[in-house]
Amino acid sequence: MRIIIFGAAGMVGSRTAVEALARGHEVTAVVRDPNRELPQGVGIEVGDAGDPAAAARLIEGHDAAVSAVRAPVGQEALQVDATAALLKGAAVSGVRLLIVGGAATLRVPDSGKAVLDDPRYIAEEWRAVAEASAAQHRRCIEEREADWTYLSPPAMLAPGARTGAYRLGRDDLLTDAAGISRISAEDLAVAIVDELEHPKHRRTRFTVAA
Ligand SMILES: NC(=O)c1ccc[n+]([C@@H]2O[C@H](COP(=O)([O-])OP(=O)(O)OC[C@H]3O[C@@H](n4cnc5c(N)ncnc54)[C@H](OP(=O)(O)O)[C@@H]3O)[C@@H](O)[C@H]2O)c1
Repeated sequence: MRIIIFGAAGMVGSRTAVEALARGHEVTAVVRDPNRELPQGVGIEVGDAGDPAAAARLIEGHDAAVSAVRAPVGQEALQVDATAALLKGAAVSGVRLLIVGGAATLRVPDSGKAVLDDPRYIAEEWRAVAEASAAQHRRCIEEREADWTYLSPPAMLAPGARTGAYRLGRDDLLTDAAGISRISAEDLAVAIVDELEHPKHRRTRFTVAA
């Protein structure tokens, strides 16, 4: 496949590039700053995910697109703008778009609340990011043209080991036997490329956890 990744220099984007390259896919990495460090073997394009015309031009000709963009702290609202621009670009080019979002709109099984409203998961300093990812998910649900998929990571996502194993879920937050909701960024990347290779969640949201 020809896969294009927006936010390719970031935690999730770079690991998705490495995973896709390791499986023999062709990867285009989109960065705003061409000096950003990127995995060996990617093609590099400079572009802003918030620009719909640039998004459509860059996505054109690929088999799938991934958004691993995170807006800078204090500018969380740009997350929704970038998502809207990428959805427009995906709709114009007819290419499938997988958006790596947040856990905010997942339902916490033991409280029935959304993660966003459960103080066990969202500390005050994370509220703006969580609200932006909730708005980002809503923007996808409203989308009528693009072929989108929204991935909600579990509560905790950080660099770690690639085990190749993960559990799949839909709208409920996944926790392990100890009540921990987590996955490594490496295994999230495995789940992303699996979904690109074998689409199971078109125009819907899914989640994963260790
Ligand atoms: N538990 C959770 O729910 C959880 C935890 C972590 C992350 N996430 C989500 O996972 C996704 C990826 O996050 P991450 O941790 O990998 O982020 P990250 O490491 O901060 O990387 C984000 C990348 O996006 C790029 N970017 C930002 N705005 C852009 C734009 N307009 N156009 C092009 N590139 C842009 C940044 O590049 P520059 O260097 O140019 O700024 C950066 O390289 C985000 O949606 C984030 O909210 C969710």
